[in-house]
Amino acid sequence: MPPAKKTAALAPFADRLLTWFDVHGRHDLPWQHPRTPYRVWLSEIMLQQTQVTTVIPYFERFLQRFPDVASLAAAPVDDVLALWAGLGYYARARNLHRCAQAVVNEHGGEFPRDIEAMQALPGIGRSTAGAILSQAHGDRHAILDGNVRRVLSRHAAVEGWPGAPAVQKKLWTVSESLLPQARMADYTQAIMDLGASLCSTRKPACAICPLTQDCGARIAGLTAQIPGAKPKPKQERPERVTQVLLIENGQGELLLERRPPAGIWGGLWCPPLLDEGLDPAAACRERYALEAGPAQALPPLHHAFSHFDLELRPLRLRAEPASSLRETAELAWIKMDDPTKGLPAPIRKLLDARRKAGLPENEKCPEPFTA
Ligand code: ADE
Repeated sequence: MPPAKKTAALAPFADRLLTWFDVHGRHDLPWQHPRTPYRVWLSEIMLQQTQVTTVIPYFERFLQRFPDVASLAAAPVDDVLALWAGLGYYARARNLHRCAQAVVNEHGGEFPRDIEAMQALPGIGRSTAGAILSQAHGDRHAILDGNVRRVLSRHAAVEGWPGAPAVQKKLWTVSESLLPQARMADYTQAIMDLGASLCSTRKPACAICPLTQDCGARIAGLTAQIPGAKPKPKQERPERVTQVLLIENGQGELLLERRPPAGIWGGLWCPPLLDEGLDPAAACRERYALEAGPAQALPPLHHAFSHFDLELRPLRLRAEPASSLRETAELAWIKMDDPTKGLPAPIRKLLDARRKAGLPENEKCPEPFTA
């Protein structure tokens, strides 16, 4: 038997990432030299919604004007906002100022080293706290910003939208499980850099990625599906309302007309429909030259069409004995259970419900209840 082929063991995730970072990562960002907590914090807040290239000149101007946290805390908030102008998301600038004051007033002018205390400061969430402590002190804390979510959800093949709490929880566990024992500052920058470059949303460069060999999404051919998209909110279905005129003639007959070919129930026979708010008696007169007595409202019925919901509000009306109607091919008095006419299912349902409610067809319309 030929000897089994030896395959080189795959280096740990963090080692491969750091080796890649040494060659391809960003090493000359202004907040990396020196990586003090104040500088790293300032950069992380600025980078929360803004690209590195936009941030760099702002970062430098801020440092000139406010070289340390005490000078920032002591400045009027309007000066901070003026210097921030153009970076957008001004709540960040207000929080930045409040955070500087909290550091001075509650922490003796030093950013806390404890991650919980860090997260308690204005504008600092879990990922930002981890990014500051890992870069400023090399402490072992995970991060999970937008780019890192993409890298980790793909590598661990975590499906679903990363903003969903259950997915996010999994990703934090993944992020924590991959931290190296050393070089945490570089590691944090490395995973952000990989997410901002090779592991792009649309065209990930898997062929040259240091994490490709054991990347779950790449192996499964799912890089386009992971991370999953944010679910679209369910479209509110429009609801329309129509009055259904159940016009009776005292002989157990109901006025039906054939619906025009276009629109709902095109070509089917149906009691006259009347837009919400219009007067049924006036419609009887104008459309059919019928004098109708007062209308009685019957319980409404809801029907779902493919693109909207329709509320049918039946109104029972009695054509006055003297009134006459010229029947045509499109308009006729019909016995209520006339099987020869094709009635739309909801209309049938409505008539059935009316019958079951104990309103025989030939019953006189009750006295006024004007809808
Ligand atoms: N986004 C957030 N922090 C960053 C950093 N340190 N470098 C690049 N992009 C970032």
